[in-house]
Amino acid sequence: MQSKNRQIPIAFAVLTLVAGISIGTSATQEDEEADRGKKDFVEVGCYQCHGYQGQGGPGGRIAPKPLPLEAFTRLVRRPANVMPAYSPKVLSDEQLKRIHKYLESIPEDPEVSTLPALSEE
Ligand code: HEC
Repeated sequence: MQSKNRQIPIAFAVLTLVAGISIGTSATQEDEEADRGKKDFVEVGCYQCHGYQGQGGPGGRIAPKPLPLEAFTRLVRRPANVMPAYSPKVLSDEQLKRIHKYLESIPEDPEVSTLPALSEE
């Protein structure tokens, strides 16, 4: 009976460890993809018109909260007007997916009410 009681915390510790490791791995994979996406974003020149954070410039704001991947891809492959079209030859679907990951990883602007300098004490 006593030895059984001791096994429970050990089993729990092992489970926690395994869960922790698997969550950790997927998070870093996402980060890595977003990091590579950021490089692609700069290399193929998106930043020149949309800014390094996708905040907008000559081209509009495309982050945070980019369009869903499908619509995003369509607009990059066949832009509406001034933007140059990026064919799969110059920008693969994989790269585009990573760029989308990068834009998704950009945090939203803080609410004005949360800025300490602007709160009245
Ligand atoms: C030469 C400037 C320029 C470059 C470079 C550029 N864009 Fe654009 N982009 C624009 C403009 C301008 C628009 C508005 C639509 C138009 O005029 O074609 C636009 C529109 C978009 C839209 C649609 C936004 C919306 O909400 O309708 C997306 C998404 C987008 N660009 C992504 C990208 C990505 C990703 C890259 C790099 C692969 C890129 N753009 C490179 C100028 C640019």
